[in-house]
Amino acid sequence: MITSSELRHRYLSFFINRGHVAIPSASLVPTNDPSVLFTTAGMHPLVPYLLGAPHPSGVRLANVQKCVRTGDIDEIGDDTHLTFFEMLGNWSLGDYGRDEAIRWSFDFLTARDGLELPIDRIGVTCFAGDDEVARDHESIQTWQALGVPRERIQLLGRDDNWWGPAGETGPCGPDTEIFYWLGELPPPVVLDVRDRRWVEIWNNVFMGYTKTSIATIEPLDRMNVDTGMGLERTVMAINGLASVYEVDTVAPLVRALREHIPDGHEREIRIIADHVRTACFVISDGVAPSNKDRGYIVRRLLRRSLEWYRSVITALVDSLGDVYPELGRDPASLVRTIEDEIRRFDRTLEQGLKRLGRTKHLDGKTAFDLLQTYGFPFELTLEIAEASGHHIDRDSFTAERDRHRERSRGAGSFAGGLADHSVEIVRYHTLTHLLQAALREVLGLHVIQRGSNITRDRLRFDFPHDGAPSDAQVVRVEELVNSWLARPLVVDCSTMTEPEARALGAIGAFGERYGEIVSIYTIADSETGEVVSREFCAGPHVRSVRDDIVGRFRIVREQGIAAGIRRIKAALDP
Ligand code: SER
Repeated sequence: MITSSELRHRYLSFFINRGHVAIPSASLVPTNDPSVLFTTAGMHPLVPYLLGAPHPSGVRLANVQKCVRTGDIDEIGDDTHLTFFEMLGNWSLGDYGRDEAIRWSFDFLTARDGLELPIDRIGVTCFAGDDEVARDHESIQTWQALGVPRERIQLLGRDDNWWGPAGETGPCGPDTEIFYWLGELPPPVVLDVRDRRWVEIWNNVFMGYTKTSIATIEPLDRMNVDTGMGLERTVMAINGLASVYEVDTVAPLVRALREHIPDGHEREIRIIADHVRTACFVISDGVAPSNKDRGYIVRRLLRRSLEWYRSVITALVDSLGDVYPELGRDPASLVRTIEDEIRRFDRTLEQGLKRLGRTKHLDGKTAFDLLQTYGFPFELTLEIAEASGHHIDRDSFTAERDRHRERSRGAGSFAGGLADHSVEIVRYHTLTHLLQAALREVLGLHVIQRGSNITRDRLRFDFPHDGAPSDAQVVRVEELVNSWLARPLVVDCSTMTEPEARALGAIGAFGERYGEIVSIYTIADSETGEVVSREFCAGPHVRSVRDDIVGRFRIVREQGIAAGIRRIKAALDP
């Protein structure tokens, strides 16, 4: 039995012995590729380097990357799909080409210092060619020279043998995919990828192109190699396991659930194990459940699983917490985040059900009101309505939602206070305090908030200052805020009288009446105690700056809006 840990180790050693430098797994929240919501392959964090920027670790890289793919969510629970998986990858940044890449893949799978898998269970696909890019003869020849018979080389088109960006732009190219026969022996002579017993385990992409718009690809001035091998599938293949849910990093989760769930629910068990595992990894990379983007995916995954999660989290942290320390850092807070979310959902359900119970007339507008007021999911309203013999017309719901969108667009953003307490708004609120502190440090203590407006996408901050700050000063402010984002800063709220707060150096608009109790938010380094910001404020704020604000702070615009008053718009780039 080869364990996951043994496979990671053998893979990295194999490529280190061939001149590669092992780099760490990047976050699941993409930093270098805005075209994806999550890191879905080891190449996303490398996009700038695949496009030509020099990588600090050189031109041959290898790693084990955490990946999340939710596109196949309906296949979860079959034998080969997981929404979170680990990907082994090696890259050539304009260095070696097809020949070495394919040879090393083949050697790693079959040779002594690799996995020693039998050649006769291996089949490959290559790019068949089309109007734009020629057939990949070189790959076909290389595989044949290594001993893969022609019948085991299937030629396929763009849909199968081309790796391209999820968005409109990015590096791309033809690929060759390696399949492993998991069925009865002997394997069929001819490879046919439609037969599910042939399981794809590894992909080698020859990234010689870049997509520059939806319809255009252009050759890059050098060719890269991007390979990705699914760790769980490979462990399954090597050990002849029946599914990825038997792999040592997933099996403990499934076992933990089996203790609580009666026999005959294998698929549900697999889905819960998969979803909780993915939600934990995404949360541990700084994403809280919410109604938007990544946060919404976490929310959906949790709602799909909901129960029996505690035992799964413990099993998960035990099985992968040593490899990815951020996951094991605070298991209690993982449980808390998930439980909070479930409680919130329970409350939503309760309120929504009450309201539904009172409603005689169930139509699209009611369904939309329920969603708007209580966050009550439309699908659920639909189910309940149908169970009680009502029919809700989906179109009237959509029409109501669109009308609402129009209205809110027209209304513009709120005035005063926070628009809502969404994660994004709260994050920008804390960032506003950090920005004010940075401005005071760079421009002087005359800087004080004159106006502030926060939306989910940016913050706006007005302050007094004569003349435009120099470019260098703006950059310095950005750098200062970003350096704070990397430090263990915690936000603490305390209440005191106004003179006490003033004595502590708190800034901001204090309460009107003397002696009134005010609340003060302090942002300080939890290790050194250094205070970065102390302001009078009603909150709310994030708790931990480093954990709760992930991304790069960027000043999008700086301008004068009145004599002696400047305005900054800033955003957090993912
Ligand atoms: N990007 C390719 C894939 O994910 C190879 O790593 O299949």
